[in-house]
Amino acid sequence: MCGIIGYIGDKPVSKILINGLKRMEYRGYDSAGISILQDNKIYTIKKKGKVAELEKMVNHEVFHSNYGIAHTRWATHGYPNDINAHPHLDNSGDISIVHNGIIENYSVLKTKLLSDGYSFKSETDTEVLAVFIGSIYEKIKDIETSIRLALREVDGTFGLLVLSKREPEKLIAARRGSPLLLGVGNGEYLVASDASAVIQYTKQVIYLNDNEICTISHDGYSIKTIENEDTEPIIEEIEFDLEHIEKGGFDHFMLKEIFEQPDTIHDAFRGRLLVDEGNVKLGGLNAVIEQLRNTDRIIITACGTSWHSGLVAEYLIESLAGVSVEVEYASEFRYRNPIINKNDIVFAISQSGETADTLAAIKEAKQKGAIVLGIVNVVGSSIARETDAGVYIHAGPEIGVASTKAFTSQLTVFTLIALLIGRMRNLSKWEGQKIAKEITLIPDKIRYILEQKDKIKEIANIYSKVRNFLYLGRGYNFPVALEGALKLKEISYIHAEGYPAAEMKHGPIALIDENMPVVIIATKDEIYDKVFSNIEEVKARKGKIIAIANVGDEKICEVADHVIYIPETLPVLTPLLSVIPLQLLAYYVALDLNCDIDKPRNLAKSVTVE
Ligand code: F6R
Repeated sequence: MCGIIGYIGDKPVSKILINGLKRMEYRGYDSAGISILQDNKIYTIKKKGKVAELEKMVNHEVFHSNYGIAHTRWATHGYPNDINAHPHLDNSGDISIVHNGIIENYSVLKTKLLSDGYSFKSETDTEVLAVFIGSIYEKIKDIETSIRLALREVDGTFGLLVLSKREPEKLIAARRGSPLLLGVGNGEYLVASDASAVIQYTKQVIYLNDNEICTISHDGYSIKTIENEDTEPIIEEIEFDLEHIEKGGFDHFMLKEIFEQPDTIHDAFRGRLLVDEGNVKLGGLNAVIEQLRNTDRIIITACGTSWHSGLVAEYLIESLAGVSVEVEYASEFRYRNPIINKNDIVFAISQSGETADTLAAIKEAKQKGAIVLGIVNVVGSSIARETDAGVYIHAGPEIGVASTKAFTSQLTVFTLIALLIGRMRNLSKWEGQKIAKEITLIPDKIRYILEQKDKIKEIANIYSKVRNFLYLGRGYNFPVALEGALKLKEISYIHAEGYPAAEMKHGPIALIDENMPVVIIATKDEIYDKVFSNIEEVKARKGKIIAIANVGDEKICEVADHVIYIPETLPVLTPLLSVIPLQLLAYYVALDLNCDIDKPRNLAKSVTVE
């Protein structure tokens, strides 16, 4: 969602800010803006639309200043337009702010400020905060204290960056519930909501904690709490390199990330899988190993694609570890009264580690006394820090808005967790070895599927003009059907529904006619024959069948219009393979429709609002 970048150093600032905004475009946004303090004047330029539009306007000015702030906005309060875009100024025009998050009590604050004679240009909660800070500054004439006092009155979340003409050569950043980091370079500092925006300049970063305020000047930085207490900041190193956030010869980040999966899956199990022992070593879970051994119930909570990987994990953990699992949308979990028993363990899954609903679910579970473990991609993210322990999936930065490699890395990590718990309980060494060995073969099996990209592209081109798709799967492949449908609708805007194949006859079968493509995952397992019957039911109603089947399955050609073959593997590992053709199918359909694949309309990469 929104992105923040700020710079203070020895280089001309405008280029660095625009560059930082471009690096964060993948997060999703609808407008962008910049404030630069130069010759005792704040120049604020903001524009609805792409960063490239803003860049053109910025390039018309001559900036020699070496500090400033910038923002990409994803509308929450007020339409996406030039006025609502950030930065926002206080009434004096001397204080400029950019803000991620939501000021929940903005309307109360606004009413009070209006009655005190202040005015507003935009519909945003952020401008209320700017005016509020300015109103305090008028009385106490100290910007840092004004921000601190204002933030104490604020309900909601913020990642905030402030520039003030009254106290030049300084930036002030603050965080509560919306990520912000300080990049510490050589004679220069960057503040950003996303490590991708600073990596070109420095890999040394300090992740701000909730309720911290950081003041940065050319000479250094200090970080205090909102209560004005000192802190002990820790400098950490960003784990990825610049090349990881560039396209590397692929047309889109999504395609690059699909093709990275043999490596990212390998990275997820490397050093963790003990093939000879049929077991797993997960350092991040050492602290809770006894609780995992003794748990009676696991609750998994997540959103979107991460929720789909939770559904696969339910099958995995119940079958390998014999622990009962419940999977719940984080947005639902937080608003009911979930029952958490003494030995329950909650897993929260998140690629970004910043999803607001998942964070809120974690807080709810913790408040009820549960141990909460995170399965997270982004190192140092809020969810990684809020959870009691956890496992990083190490998929590297995922830039395409539609999640692909994070999904398969999450599945890999959950397979390891299921093995770990299973081996502490009833899973035999022999069974463990068989699964562990098969995991090591998965990357090559995925390479085999990726080689069929041209064939999948041909199928995609045949169906790209239809308006509806149905995806069916059973058992482990049911969540994969949901994920395939989600991928298609996200990036091609074609309506798609995923169903357990056997549920089709309870309703969706009414939709089937000669215009309905039905993607069915029919791999060789104990329910293959049942799925085959479902295929025949579709065929009898003239639906078009795109089957995902195992290499060597000739019988399926008798009923399917198209077959995409994937190698055989153990049923527990099938989703790691069966999802790959569905990712490619969605990609090539969207490509044929000329859609903005990496930045689909209305979507944000990390959903930091409820
Ligand atoms: C789908 C997608 C979203 C995310 C969801 C949760 O392609 O990317 O559905 O999976 O917003 O995001 P994370 O995993 O970052 O918590």
